[in-house]
Amino acid sequence: MADRYYVTTPIYYVNDSPHIGHAYTSLACDVLARFMRLDGKEVRFLTGTDEHGQKVEKAAATAGMDPQAFTDEVSGRFRRLAEAMNFSNDDFIRTTEPRHVEAVQALWRELVARGEIYLDSYAGWYSVRDEAFYAESELVDGKAPSGAPVEWVEEPSYFFRLSAWQDRLLEHYRTHPDFILPESRRNEVMRFVEGGLQDLSVSRTSFAWGIKVPGDPGHVVYVWLDALTNYCSAVGYPDTESPDYQRFWPADLHMVGKDILRFHAVYWPAFLMAAGLEPPKRVYAHGWWTNEGQKISKSLGNVIDPRELIARYGLDPTRYFLMREVPFGADGDFSHRAMVQRMNADLANDYGNLAQRSLSMIAKNCGGVVPEPGKLDAADQALLEAATALVDRVREHLAVQQFHKALEAIWEVIGEANRYVDAQAPWTLRKTDSARMATVLYTLAEIVRRLALLTQPFMPDASAKLLDQLAVCTGARQLAHIEAALVPGTPLPKPEGVFPRYVEDAPA
Ligand code: MSP
Repeated sequence: MADRYYVTTPIYYVNDSPHIGHAYTSLACDVLARFMRLDGKEVRFLTGTDEHGQKVEKAAATAGMDPQAFTDEVSGRFRRLAEAMNFSNDDFIRTTEPRHVEAVQALWRELVARGEIYLDSYAGWYSVRDEAFYAESELVDGKAPSGAPVEWVEEPSYFFRLSAWQDRLLEHYRTHPDFILPESRRNEVMRFVEGGLQDLSVSRTSFAWGIKVPGDPGHVVYVWLDALTNYCSAVGYPDTESPDYQRFWPADLHMVGKDILRFHAVYWPAFLMAAGLEPPKRVYAHGWWTNEGQKISKSLGNVIDPRELIARYGLDPTRYFLMREVPFGADGDFSHRAMVQRMNADLANDYGNLAQRSLSMIAKNCGGVVPEPGKLDAADQALLEAATALVDRVREHLAVQQFHKALEAIWEVIGEANRYVDAQAPWTLRKTDSARMATVLYTLAEIVRRLALLTQPFMPDASAKLLDQLAVCTGARQLAHIEAALVPGTPLPKPEGVFPRYVEDAPA
């Protein structure tokens, strides 16, 4: 298996403050990055901000700011979101950085040298909100299919010969069945490409906030060609011999929302193949969140600020909810009720209670040290084996971005462990068979350790607290340590609850 893993988030437009949609895409990448690191891989996890184009230029003008000062400020908000959400990104790229500008211009020159770009003029519809060109036939009631307003644009423009890539794209999809996931989205993209591709306008002349086209400074590079290139600029492109590029390109995964799949699964591989570069290994398109059943939009005033979720429910419960509530790939709804239900049932009752009662029984009845087990019986062994087997199950689910299934599998074992506690009744054994009680409590401590190793990618802080309470040193928290059992006699710190219940405020 490859020992490296390169995962990317989309780079976020700096026209707006971060909201739950941004946090969601990045969280999914963070979970993967953390899992892969725990699984012994060298990981590169990239996120960043998309700072050029008409939409950002307009937002800066509305704010009465110079675009560079504006992007500096808004980009900072995304950086702070990453910190607040405990994202473990290794890099944060901004498209206004010199390393990126250089990469975009190099890619442009390469495409020109290979005869893939030509000068003509564009007359058609453009949506600033989507930063996308639309054919007349695509409009729905005079708007973009996304509902965004469009404007008529006529200007000199460079074009990329996208039409020439139809067959090679289809061939790529056929020979790489996992290139686009989930499968329903793959089918949509294939239908779209089978319908024929038009050459794509890749430069604009009617505004200035962008990367200048090499040799023709009246044009700026179309913001999507600019933005997509970030995935390569961050690993050293145009120096394809650089150690980073050699090690990390092609990317293992571009995680994106369903709204931007076409750019990633059609245009981007075509640009790359046309420049003689390898396409990424996978593009995964996830669904969209609504808020209490309603589409999230600024005009409805129902945008969910991730910082408010963290303040209200706590960071790890929020991370857990986002990854558990909705089958990954499908759309999902955020509701306070569902959040509280997950927090109280899955976290406080199931996981929290298992850990809390196991650790406090050890504190009370075993002198606060890891108990000395006797011979393990079939029930003890079955439970321990189920926990160990989770590593492969979780790995398989995460290999195809099925976060909710990975969590479901972990919670199955949590359920088994809670049933085991009830069946073994260590509180009764205390009076009748203290040796057996020690074995049961040892088994439980071991189970909590194994579970906590596995929940680290989803809930890093809470899992670390559990591992601290089991005195597991930080060097022994890799998945490879799943069977490296606790040492009897090791003193344990005083146990403390890790998953608080959510208690509704009394009505005023
Ligand atoms: N700048 C482009 C991406 C360029 S990548 C080379 C862009 N930026 S964005 O800030 O508008 O959106 C980024 C991501 O947020 C997208 O993946 C989008 O799907 C996601 N979301 C925005 N609103 C969302 C929800 N309500 N729910 C889930 N994700 C959503 O597009």
